[in-house]
Amino acid sequence: MTQSPGQGNALDNLLTESRTFPPSDEFAAQANAQPALYEEAKADREAFWAKQAERLHWETKWDQVLDWSGAPFAKWFVGGKLNVAYNCVDRHVESGHGEQVAIHWEGEPGDSRAITYAELQREVSKAANALTSLGIGAEDRVAIYMPMVPEAIFAMLACARVGALHNVVFGGFSAEALRTRIQDSEARLVITTDGQYRRGNPAPLKPAVDEAVAGAPSVEKVIVVKRTDTEVAWTDKDVWWHELVDSQSDQHTPEAFDSEHPLFILYTSGTTGKPKGILHTSGGYLTQASYTHNYVFDLKPDTDVYWCTADIGWVTGHSYIVYGPLSNRVTQVVYEGTPNTPNEGRHWDIVEKYGVSIYYTAPTLIRTFMKWGADIPAKHDLSSLRVLGSVGEPINPEAWIWYRENIGGGKAPIVDTWWQTETGAIMISPLPGVVSTKPGSAQRPLPGIGAKVVNDEGVEVPHGGGGYLVLDEPWPSMLRGIWGDEERYRDTYWSRFKDQGFYFAGDGAKYDNDGDIWLLGRVDDVMNVSGHRISTTEVESALVSHPTVAEAAVVGASDETTGQGIVAFVILRGGAGADAGGAEAIKALRDHVAKEIGPIAKPRQIMVVPELPKTRSGKIMRRLLRDVAENRTVGDVTTLADSSVMDLISAGLQSGKSED
Ligand code: PRX
Repeated sequence: MTQSPGQGNALDNLLTESRTFPPSDEFAAQANAQPALYEEAKADREAFWAKQAERLHWETKWDQVLDWSGAPFAKWFVGGKLNVAYNCVDRHVESGHGEQVAIHWEGEPGDSRAITYAELQREVSKAANALTSLGIGAEDRVAIYMPMVPEAIFAMLACARVGALHNVVFGGFSAEALRTRIQDSEARLVITTDGQYRRGNPAPLKPAVDEAVAGAPSVEKVIVVKRTDTEVAWTDKDVWWHELVDSQSDQHTPEAFDSEHPLFILYTSGTTGKPKGILHTSGGYLTQASYTHNYVFDLKPDTDVYWCTADIGWVTGHSYIVYGPLSNRVTQVVYEGTPNTPNEGRHWDIVEKYGVSIYYTAPTLIRTFMKWGADIPAKHDLSSLRVLGSVGEPINPEAWIWYRENIGGGKAPIVDTWWQTETGAIMISPLPGVVSTKPGSAQRPLPGIGAKVVNDEGVEVPHGGGGYLVLDEPWPSMLRGIWGDEERYRDTYWSRFKDQGFYFAGDGAKYDNDGDIWLLGRVDDVMNVSGHRISTTEVESALVSHPTVAEAAVVGASDETTGQGIVAFVILRGGAGADAGGAEAIKALRDHVAKEIGPIAKPRQIMVVPELPKTRSGKIMRRLLRDVAENRTVGDVTTLADSSVMDLISAGLQSGKSED
């Protein structure tokens, strides 16, 4: 590992990684992706995307692949018409796969349900007829606030089928968060459940809807799925799913909509301001979701069993549970609950039970598994797994290696997929079977995608240099704006590199010496130590590469001498030993970082904590840790998944850890 700090770089490149894992010959030979894909896309980008769009059934073919004349508002497959739900459901039944299981649904309490494509078609048709019976049609907005039950997927597809936009709100959000999202999108209908299972117990959900709807006059009806059978208050807007939907005809003729017909709004919270309603449309979105799902996960629809552990409340659930996989005729597992119910082996039980072959999850969960210990997966037969994926944050090289060895049997390729709610689908990722993977790197833009790392002036940095990640070509699944706020759309994504016309992703990144891309976290999180711009990700990765550390979060706290000083919060691994939090051990950790990255990155302070503050999608809230590090009152904790975490951290600190 070497240190190469460069003053004046937008971001310094400090940590280097030399391990690479070429694909096996067997994997490469059978892979969906072949090296020629890159050449093909480079030779004629639009022709390449047109070919990918042919993965779908179009009622009317497009007459123009891309219209970018209204930049930054793109139109893809102009003039084409298709029905998104038909593409995800009916055409598989029509091609003779009605009896194939689409969804192996696994409830948290242990109940399960296998749903074939034929059954999915009937359920989605009934739900679509129910929407029509309520007067919901094209362009109407429907809020979906549900746990991971099959009806949530039926509801999304039913919206797509009738041309209504769904606005899925994560079931862990509060009534207030739901209300603002309903109001901003002016939803006419809400679909929810009576309750949801969380960590083995039923918890009410509908009261939050009642509270939200009381303050949201646009809502005319609320459809309620019975899941936990808990008693619920009833208003005259409410109707039971089983009464309304089950009595509908299971026949429904889908209508073809314009390629640019809106498909959904999904709210994403930035660091400041109200949540942004990210708008996606139909043809381009489905094309890229389908294309990426096929090549990045190497999906074989006849033999694979795929499992993406995301919640449908996030974009990953939209693109890689619903639209990408179902458009590719997947057989997939959908799991309702938490990974430690009834015990910490639940995911591996499920992998064994269904013979899962492709598993897609987030680094936060991988690090949690590390913390729980490798002996848990070791008790299970995970030999069915052949491709592993990661998304949502930079994955530290050590977590990557742990994942490969303990879950992937030392051989399944890992695809580290970089993308955003705004990009709609995967943008940067190795193609399994083609690219030799590198622990911690998302590596290169997929064929057809333009991405690069630039400095403050928008000039591409050389290999070995760090800067900002930008997307320099429009892509099919790009957002088509922020709902109701054109100016914010232009400001947020297109103003930073206006002259160059680049989309600014908000992430720091670097090239290694081979030109592979490494994501370095949100630029708002970059630390400035004695004039060096250091990424939180690199210091966290160095900490996690120490055998006693499971997870680390690093922040810059103001420092009289150096501008900012590095303060680290670490969670120890299961079995790290009683001394692992002692003064000696802390010193060893600081030295370890100095050795891995260089003395410049040595944390000023390391605190051992039991938990880290995370958003509900698993991202660390460094803002709160900065408050702790700078001895301020901790700020707004309402978007934390578990707001008691900050108390735990403060309590731990008072009981005496761990500056040296
Ligand atoms: O900072 C990047 C990080 O997650 C952000 C997007 O978050 P969201 O819209 O919630 O979507 C998450 C699921 C796609 C990005 O700007 N991010 C996502 N994937 C990666 C990542 N950072 C590093 N490596 C990744 N693979």
